Amino acid sequence: MTTPILDIRDLRVTFPTDDGLVHAVNGMDLTVQRGETVGIVGESGSGKTVTSQTLMGLLKGTSAKVSGRILFEGTDLVPLSESEMRPYRGRKIGMIFQDPLSAMHPFYTVGKQISEAYRVHNRVSAKAAKAQAIEMLNRVGIPDPVSRYDAYPHEFSGGMRQRAMIAMALICEPELLIADEPTTALDVTVQAQILDLISSLQAETGSAVIFVTHDLGVVAEVCKRVVVMYGGQCVEEADVQDAFFRTGHPYTKGLLASMPSMADEVGRLTPIPGFPPSLLNLPTGCLFADRCPVSHLVPGDRCRTERPELHSDGTHRSRCHLAELPATLPTPVEATR
Ligand SMILES: Nc1ncnc2c1ncn2[C@@H]1O[C@H](COP(=O)(O)OP(=O)(O)OP(=O)(O)O)[C@@H](O)[C@H]1O
Ligand code: SF4
Ligand SMILES: [Mg+2]
Repeated sequence: MTTPILDIRDLRVTFPTDDGLVHAVNGMDLTVQRGETVGIVGESGSGKTVTSQTLMGLLKGTSAKVSGRILFEGTDLVPLSESEMRPYRGRKIGMIFQDPLSAMHPFYTVGKQISEAYRVHNRVSAKAAKAQAIEMLNRVGIPDPVSRYDAYPHEFSGGMRQRAMIAMALICEPELLIADEPTTALDVTVQAQILDLISSLQAETGSAVIFVTHDLGVVAEVCKRVVVMYGGQCVEEADVQDAFFRTGHPYTKGLLASMPSMADEVGRLTPIPGFPPSLLNLPTGCLFADRCPVSHLVPGDRCRTERPELHSDGTHRSRCHLAELPATLPTPVEATR
């Protein structure tokens, strides 16, 4: 077995706030192989972006406390200083943000920002970097890239800005690309074009991709494997087919039942009742216990008193006491009745 490009183990991130310590990530595990596309899904606030930011080293120098291991090609990134992180961020690991307008500087042209991203990591002349940026703008499908090089971010449409952001993230040919909700702000047609673009560029460059989204439909379209996050933990990890058709965790079942396609089957859309746990005051037991429709199937009070481990069945992992007794799990539709 080759070393995975990324192996995150027991990652924990807390933020001190006036209200107390926010436990944003609570023992996250994630493994990504070279060239693989892995989806991270979960409701708002489940820790998807904080995990991505930590991986990029963006919390270094802030008041956030990070522990655990982020092994990138075997090197732990957690203890690295800001300067030691530089060869990784933008060079080996690229990131596409949800909102390219806030990720780009408004006072510099799009082309200049892309060519500078290239020059930070490559010793080339400004002229050569410009040529590279124009080539990249062309590859991501921006028409007339030579003149668009000199346009400012606000002069681009939402879809074109996202393409430019992808050009900036991929110009150094990173081995790992993190795409955090890259299509959420876009209309459906442009969304499909951007997904196609990421897939085809990935096929050309061989990068691994972590696709962060709240949309299981997008995961089904572009990912091979999916990690479901809840309360800053991985609660289920499986091949996409297994996650959809042999779902292991009651939370994933709830997410699936709330999707429009599942709603067609049951005749209505069924959001998961209740709210995620307070990250200021985490429960002792399972983080999903307050909302779980099947906790009564677990003998005793274990769901309230004992935090479940990630149970592994080969390539399928589920953080639920019931995973010890998989045959008892109800179907996604039953789980929400
Ligand atoms: N700098 C911070 N200080 C305090 N709390 C924070 C900070 N950054 C994130 N959080 C909290 O951490 C939790 C996880 O946030 P995160 O942005 O990772 O969620 P997410 O899964 O990406 O959600 P969404 O789908 O809305 O993007 C949230 O409760 C958020 O409020
Ligand atoms: S451990 Fe208990 S509360 Fe948590 S998901 Fe499983 S059954 Fe539900
Ligand atoms: Mg987010």
